[in-house]
Amino acid sequence: MTDAVEIRAIHARRVWDSRGRPTVEAEVHLHDGAVGSAIVPAGASKGTREALELRDGGERFGGLDVQRAVAHVNGEIARAVLGMAADDQAALDERLIELDGTPNKERLGANATLAVSMAAAHAAAASHGLPLYEYLGGPLASLLPMPQIQIFGGGAHAGRRVDIQDFMIVCPGAGSFAQALEWTAEVYRHAGQLMRTRGALLGVADEGGWWPAFDTNEEALEALVVAIERAGFVPGEQVAIALDIAASDFGRAGRYTLGLERRELDSDGLIELLLRWCEKFPIVSIEDPLGEDDGQAFARFTRAAGHKLQVVGDDFLVSSAPLVRQAAADGVANAVLLKPNQRGTLTETLQCWNAARALGYAGIVSARSGESEDTTIVHLAIGWQVGQLKVGSFARSERMSKWNEALRIEERLGARGRFTGAGIFGRSGARREPAPPGS
Ligand code: PGA
Ligand code: ZN
Repeated sequence: MTDAVEIRAIHARRVWDSRGRPTVEAEVHLHDGAVGSAIVPAGASKGTREALELRDGGERFGGLDVQRAVAHVNGEIARAVLGMAADDQAALDERLIELDGTPNKERLGANATLAVSMAAAHAAAASHGLPLYEYLGGPLASLLPMPQIQIFGGGAHAGRRVDIQDFMIVCPGAGSFAQALEWTAEVYRHAGQLMRTRGALLGVADEGGWWPAFDTNEEALEALVVAIERAGFVPGEQVAIALDIAASDFGRAGRYTLGLERRELDSDGLIELLLRWCEKFPIVSIEDPLGEDDGQAFARFTRAAGHKLQVVGDDFLVSSAPLVRQAAADGVANAVLLKPNQRGTLTETLQCWNAARALGYAGIVSARSGESEDTTIVHLAIGWQVGQLKVGSFARSERMSKWNEALRIEERLGARGRFTGAGIFGRSGARREPAPPGS
């Protein structure tokens, strides 16, 4: 007798991401007819310790084709996992890890393994007749994430027009996920208008944030505060700022080059600058304040600001449980960004979140700058009860598909749904009382 959730067939194909680059989509078919599919994303400002995304090299599509990864899914991986139970995610992912046989998915590619890992979860959820978040988290999975939404894009996502990669907002004063999006829509619109009237709008960056022509990085922060105010919100109370410095992108070995301002800073100079911004602007979260090779300075920054600020490790932690444990021992960061393609399986990503949570770290499930219509990460954020979600801006359908999926889930959860608002940042002391919702 075959089990209903046994994997009957797997098929992968090449599809295209939001930057027009090739990526991997996998479909997992089960014996009972259930099907799950998933598309993997791709980063631009990647950490060097991320799992390897297998690309074909050569001339075609700038060397970025994924035919080898697709062939691995359709060949070796399919043969190895046929007959396995799609609802035993740990065993399935363990098989993928063993089959690859390298520490960083270098042989098969994390894009091959993750496509299968995610598609299997979707198939298993379908077989159980549940939405993915509920399949992953059970009936208790009811915490809607606080969205971190990009208003201005910079760094590697915007031709380095500004050095800082993500100027984002969070809405600690909002009473629901839906309201956080309503508030963000107003701030995003006002920020665009502001840029237009200043003649400083160059279009949108890779993740849909405004691509502005500022003279200094600080000018972007000032503009963001003005946009929050013009939208009718109290900065720091209702709507606050979150930054992804992505410092690995403009610094090596403790030397950081702010190209826009034509100046170089050492680690302590950058720390000083960021601390000054935190004094001057309503910032509640900073990601990758220092480079991935600058752990001691990262720890110094965390000591100086971690009691009042969410300090997030992305390139520094690459969604790795061992690296999070090491960071906790070294006093680096107090929150971890969770990007499944930094590891290549859902199980390893969840292991990282479990390790982080046990150590008192906050978590943020995150998209990549190269995305698609896939909405798996929204379900991970809710199913794993992570509490925060970062998917880029408030424009372009590869971003909006995620926000809209979370809206649908909030509606489905109804009275069972929870949204923590200020509580998310209350832990770090950055926010005190939530402002009354509805400005
Ligand atoms: P990436 O950017 O997907 O290009 O790495 C996102 C981030 O740095 O958080
Ligand atoms: Zn980042």
